[in-house]
Amino acid sequence: MGSADAIEEWEWKRLTRKRLPKLRSGKAFDAASARSVDQSAAASKTDVTKHPNRWKGWRSASVQSVKDESPDCRSFVFVPTDGEPFPPFLGGQYLTVRLNDPSTGKNVSRCYSLSSGPDEPHYRITVKRVPGGTMSNLLHDTIDVGDRIEIQAPKGKFHYSVEASQSQSPEPLNLIAAGIGITPMLSMLFQSLNERMDREVNLFYQVRNAVDAPFLAPIREIAKMLEATTGVRVHLWFSKPEDDDLRPGDSIGRLSAEQIVDRLGHHRGEYLICGPDVFMNAIAEGLIDCGASANHVMFESFGVKSKSAGALAVPACDSCVDESDANETGSDDSIGCNVTFQTSEKSASFEAGMDGLLDVAESLDVDVDSGCRSGDCGACVRRLLSGEVKYAEPPECDVDEGEAVLCVAKPVSEVVVDA
Ligand SMILES: Cc1cc2nc3c(=O)[nH]c(=O)nc-3n(C[C@H](O)[C@H](O)[C@H](O)COP(=O)(O)OP(=O)(O)OC[C@H]3O[C@@H](n4cnc5c(N)ncnc54)[C@H](O)[C@@H]3O)c2cc1C
Ligand code: FES
Repeated sequence: MGSADAIEEWEWKRLTRKRLPKLRSGKAFDAASARSVDQSAAASKTDVTKHPNRWKGWRSASVQSVKDESPDCRSFVFVPTDGEPFPPFLGGQYLTVRLNDPSTGKNVSRCYSLSSGPDEPHYRITVKRVPGGTMSNLLHDTIDVGDRIEIQAPKGKFHYSVEASQSQSPEPLNLIAAGIGITPMLSMLFQSLNERMDREVNLFYQVRNAVDAPFLAPIREIAKMLEATTGVRVHLWFSKPEDDDLRPGDSIGRLSAEQIVDRLGHHRGEYLICGPDVFMNAIAEGLIDCGASANHVMFESFGVKSKSAGALAVPACDSCVDESDANETGSDDSIGCNVTFQTSEKSASFEAGMDGLLDVAESLDVDVDSGCRSGDCGACVRRLLSGEVKYAEPPECDVDEGEAVLCVAKPVSEVVVDA
């Protein structure tokens, strides 16, 4: 596939504007001057959470384009409908998207990592169709160019570290993805490419074959454009390649931590992993066994289980696991507390094994939005009309006085919720 087909026009323009002039003019790569220019650009947008265009709650967006990236993965590009530009985000963050499901009349919301560059005027998500899944099928089957959709401002703790990128001699950035887990890696890769040119960046991508792999063609193009002159390296692993899939340097089989360290020739740097849980656990544990610093191994779970945290963006270290276990054991006083949803006029007790008030709402079929189920996205925030709640750790999302983040809020008394 040619470059113009493989890479979206805006990405192509940005890459050519930033980097290709140097390649085309044949000038030697000057890391020092590139660093000073790019670092000052990065410094000016360090804290995107305080950007004046950020909004709270839901905002309407319009679908500008739709594109199939593979037989079951489709990209949707959103633009504002109110004339106010979208704020930038940090590579790796996600959008919470809400749609009305015509079959039930109820709203459905889910989180999707942004797959576009963080300072583009639009947002792009890429959605894999999940058999039997509500939102992914609604998006694939009913949403087209010109349609409206509601979104929340980008959020998430699993993201590119501007701080790490700005340091004098930044450690390597190692992005490790399998399948649809490539989405947050793309926005991190774009952010890195936009910010500085002298950092070692490795993208490891485990795919089944070339046809099923979203964004394989643009990734190959980017690698081809940049590998000769910069620190960007792409490493592709095919578990079941078809006849024409492989190019020189590609590997067959399943990616392991040992292979990553072997390719890198070191175990330094930040590791950001996204893919199926089994894949992430094996890679994260293996990297730490190989000597990577546990505090620098982060992962994002797209988990679709209703009872577990949807988005894990935590260092894969034992001490963190112990901490959350300790918090769990202190939660017993919630059990038995009565929870009332005033608008729905329904009540039930908070039961052992529940993660938050959202579980009580769902057990009663009370309509409450949800997305990440981990206190990040803010989709489930509701007013607390009476009573008190507690959190194992403070939620990341915006929550005002008198509100509760239902997915992670546990009652400490009888509570009444506005839902
Ligand atoms: C931070 C974050 C980022 C994400 N980024 C992406 C991304 O970039 N791209 C992407 O494609 N996904 C991403 N996801 C996953 C996404 O949010 C959704 O979970 C996914 O699209 C599935 O949603 P769904 O509504 O289609 O499926 P759901 O309706 O939630 O169903 C999920 C699964 O449960 C099964 N199921 C549903 N109801 C029942 C039932 N009653 N009994 C038994 N089984 C049932 C379905 O068959 C399906 O297998 C992300 C998730 C998170 C938390
Ligand atoms: S579902 Fe995301 S904060 Fe509760």
